[in-house]
Amino acid sequence: MPDTFVIAIDGPAASGKSSVSKVLARRLHCAHVNSGALYRAATWGILQAGADPADPDAAVAALRALHLDCRPSGSSFTILVNGVDPGEQLREPAVASRVSTLASVPEVREILTALLRSLADGRSLIMEGRDIGSVVFPETPYKFYIDASEDVRLSRRRAQGEVDSLVSRDQQDSTRKTAPLKVAAEAHVIDTTALALEQVVAAVLATLQRRGLVVEAPEA
Ligand code: DC
Repeated sequence: MPDTFVIAIDGPAASGKSSVSKVLARRLHCAHVNSGALYRAATWGILQAGADPADPDAAVAALRALHLDCRPSGSSFTILVNGVDPGEQLREPAVASRVSTLASVPEVREILTALLRSLADGRSLIMEGRDIGSVVFPETPYKFYIDASEDVRLSRRRAQGEVDSLVSRDQQDSTRKTAPLKVAAEAHVIDTTALALEQVVAAVLATLQRRGLVVEAPEA
């Protein structure tokens, strides 16, 4: 077993990546990174700076001028933008409706990918996102693609009380040229449409074990 490991969990919006990642982080005693939150924080910071996330040159210049910091906090990370934690503002429609456009800019991805990779220095991580298994950590043997039907994903978002343009985000995220959302080579695809969270977690743990990661027996 390696000293440290990275588990990549990719998939479309509201497919259940965060819920699975949080439970896994607890079970495996490692940190959880929501890379989507970093893309949202960048979008929020660019808007705060008065720049347009849809104008690539202006957005990249504003992003380079921001200080983005991911601070370990319990089993997760707090993202600070110029020292401020945007918290729930990351879920607001102003951010949700612009984040995919910003995420399609190659320079933006370069900057954020470098930051995401640096978080794995010396520690084990579960990282969720869109291109974690394909681009950010392509070498990891522990890759998952968590999916669910569009209806189920929409109703999960509604249950969270969130207004989210997830269908158009998914469309943008999977058709962009750089690092699109796709099933990474060797990823274990899990359709969670008809599964309870515990069943998804059990499926992930079984695959991790098969792929050589020693994990504790599932909790009774
Ligand atoms: O996980 P999320 O829905 O909060 O992600 C918000 C957006 O960030 C998503 O629509 C696309 C972008 N994103 C990305 O391009 N690459 C990632 N690894 C994570 C998120």
